[in-house]
Amino acid sequence: MSIRVHLGGRLCPPDIAAVPVFDRGFLFGDSVYETLGTSNGRLVFLDDHLHRLARSAERLYLKLPPRDEIERAVQETLAAAENPESRMRIVVTRGDGGVDLDPTASGQPRLVVIVQPLGGPPPELYEKGAEVEIVSVTRNSPRAIDPAVKSGNYLNNVLAMGEARRRRPSVHEAILCAASGSVAEGATSNLFAVVAGQLRTPALEVGILDGVTRGKILALASANGIACHEVSFMSPDDLRHADEAFLTSSVRSVLPVTRVDGLALGDGKPGAVTRRLMLLYRQLVEAQT
Ligand SMILES: Cc1ncc(COP(=O)(O)O)c(C=O)c1O
Repeated sequence: MSIRVHLGGRLCPPDIAAVPVFDRGFLFGDSVYETLGTSNGRLVFLDDHLHRLARSAERLYLKLPPRDEIERAVQETLAAAENPESRMRIVVTRGDGGVDLDPTASGQPRLVVIVQPLGGPPPELYEKGAEVEIVSVTRNSPRAIDPAVKSGNYLNNVLAMGEARRRRPSVHEAILCAASGSVAEGATSNLFAVVAGQLRTPALEVGILDGVTRGKILALASANGIACHEVSFMSPDDLRHADEAFLTSSVRSVLPVTRVDGLALGDGKPGAVTRRLMLLYRQLVEAQT
């Protein structure tokens, strides 16, 4: 099990991997990133993640290094780590500048790739289901730092997670609402509810990240006859009274939720629709790795 870092165009020992204090990612969170995992040692949905990285960068007018350079760094770092399964973070910052906010004052983009052992929730959590807490910290407005952009500025989500853990230390994930009052997404995950056998998930317009896993679940539901509605409003009570719920993210895959704000959801166990989608998603990942 090892940690490997790619920085400045080459592999770099993790204990000395450092960016300059004038890096805009460090100073302002002026960066974009992706997190993805492996299955059978291969990166899962790499192409989707690189596309989203490009979309995020475009929205921030941030120039990415050429794709082949990113792919080379990705493959070199993964190979060097030699972990059975890994988790990868690809970061591109706007590079070095002074302490001037002006984005045109920056140099070349800086690419960093970090690979570490996959980690992720323990298997028991998939059996038992996770606890989530709906927090008062509001998801960013799409007119501010658009949640559709996966930028390095995660302070809002950090605050959400802090609030959730202060309230209930056992909580796995914080759920943020949009300014409209609609449930939006988790601090690092998308959210689905199941009501009367049908899936509901906040629509992209609510102001959320277009999660790679979320997209796969929507496609799997549609291909397998599970009705799914992307809703423009889901109240906190809609979530608290759902029959089932689950989180999706690249590192967690599909993680059942069995408690919201300290109260059991449905019968307090991962539900049938959730378990079916967990299986379908596992099969999809297995088939492509
Ligand atoms: C805010 C947020 N929403 C959703 C997700 C899930 O996205 P994906 O399925 O692409 O990992 C993440 C992942 O980190 C996230 O940070």
